[in-house]
Amino acid sequence: MTKNNNHIRQIEECVAFLQERLPFIPPLVIQLGTGLGDLAGQVQPALILPYNEIPNFPSSTVSSHQGNLIVGHLHGVPVIILQGRFHCYEGYSSKEVAFPIRVLSLLGVKTLILTNAAGGLNPAFAPGSIMIFRDHLNLLGDNPLRGPNVEAWGPRFPDFSVPYDPELTRIALESATVCGLDKVVTGVYACIPGPSLETPAETRWLRGCGADAVGMSSIPEIIVARHAGMEVLGLSVISNVNDPDKMQPIILEEIIAAAEAVKPQLERLIIEIIRRRYAEN
Ligand code: HPA
Repeated sequence: MTKNNNHIRQIEECVAFLQERLPFIPPLVIQLGTGLGDLAGQVQPALILPYNEIPNFPSSTVSSHQGNLIVGHLHGVPVIILQGRFHCYEGYSSKEVAFPIRVLSLLGVKTLILTNAAGGLNPAFAPGSIMIFRDHLNLLGDNPLRGPNVEAWGPRFPDFSVPYDPELTRIALESATVCGLDKVVTGVYACIPGPSLETPAETRWLRGCGADAVGMSSIPEIIVARHAGMEVLGLSVISNVNDPDKMQPIILEEIIAAAEAVKPQLERLIIEIIRRRYAEN
């Protein structure tokens, strides 16, 4: 069996499994990143599936990520929560990283909201800012759509001229105002493979390339979601701001602590966004 046929088979097996198990198919998936998994606690769960019980799902090797797929209601809105994600630095290809999103798109989920922790590059940002993705730079050196295209899943050359949904972005900015959050900004997210953090020269270069924030996640999932025609909203918690002329060590525990500190604001923001988005429908 070719590698691609194997991938298709694994996806189809997983779709068939979830089709049978999920009590309903929500319109929305929220993927929670480093230190941000607690929103799941506010969900009225109908089903909690550990990733290791879902056929062909990758398993997270990072201790700050729990691995559960949760189906339920978040303040009355039907949602799937992906609590924990996979990263290329764990050894996964970007196709493997995006596996859950491909499966959910084939089940009929229409919207992807994802959160992560990122390093700020824009000097106007501060630790604790929340950045709404306006655009991105894929610097992974990999793309989840590499290889033969499955026409039924999306086009060979998907358009990325408007990568992030303008209506969701508008709602997110409006929601930030309503929630009284004054550190919500928009910006360009650069995705590096990691796991080594940026050198001063890389930080300077990323800034020069127009990146406002840098991290090691989310872009494979976003590329697959857009290929499948889903609308996407990306939210980064800015845990640290890097200055190439005054680099400070970037310490995982500090990233997690910073993400923790912003969690209540991020949760309020997401809840307001989904209320508005789904109230307007
Ligand atoms: N660089 C890359 N990834 C990160 C950072 C950073 O400074 N902070 C949080 N995730």
